[in-house]
Amino acid sequence: MLTIAISKGRIYEEALPFLAEAGIIPTDNPETCRKLILDTTRDDVKLIIIRATDVPTFVEYGAADLGITGKDVLLEHGTENLYEPLDLNIARCRLMTAAHQDAPPLTGRFRVATKYVNITERYFASLGMQADIIKLYGSMELAPLVGLADCIVDLVETGNTLKANHLEPRELIMHISSRLVVNKAAMKMKNTAIVTLIKQFEHTLHTRNS
Ligand code: ATP
Ligand code: PRP
Repeated sequence: MLTIAISKGRIYEEALPFLAEAGIIPTDNPETCRKLILDTTRDDVKLIIIRATDVPTFVEYGAADLGITGKDVLLEHGTENLYEPLDLNIARCRLMTAAHQDAPPLTGRFRVATKYVNITERYFASLGMQADIIKLYGSMELAPLVGLADCIVDLVETGNTLKANHLEPRELIMHISSRLVVNKAAMKMKNTAIVTLIKQFEHTLHTRNS
């Protein structure tokens, strides 16, 4: 049996063609059913539906053999206890700093609101800048508007969310896409099944690129 941890929404939708290439078609729709463990058209594969940020934890502890989640989530969590064999190139966006359109460049000591505390700490430390980090769980864009922070670190795709809130992107921290991650023990114990799956996912990637 192989279990794959994945979040509902954009990653699930974009991962479906990869799963289908491996003959894995979920028999329920996670958007409309309340099940957290989904059967698939393969008797030996189940999907576990969890929050994107929980995927590394489930895979690290072996509660799932594999997972699909964003590089942002992986960098924030730490990846030393996981294998990350494949960039699926889906759910692509950028992790950026952003500030109010009228705000001056950051100098001296300043406040940054973000849910990516670890990445943000490392980023500003690498630049030798003094950032006080305020952890938020969502709606980061609000923070500069109400005086909670001087800037934010968040994901940007089209830029529409920033624009709608009178913010603008400033510095690119990194490009983000979703990755396949694998539990280290499962990679040994279920090697043939997992390597086959990785090859099938790679095939989908190559077909897309050609
Ligand atoms: P949760 O709902 O658990 O709090 P979330 O809101 O971050 O998490 P999603 O919005 O589905 O969940 O984002 C999951 C992942 O998709 C992110 O970690 C990131 O890698 C990617 N992502 C997020 N926003 C975008 C976007 N606008 N465009 C492309 N990819 C995105
Ligand atoms: C993500 C992210 C940004 C937005 C960026 O939010 O947190 O707010 O996308 O995309 P854009 O540049 O195309 O506007 P999401 O849509 O996932 O909503 P949520 O995380 O608040 O649920």
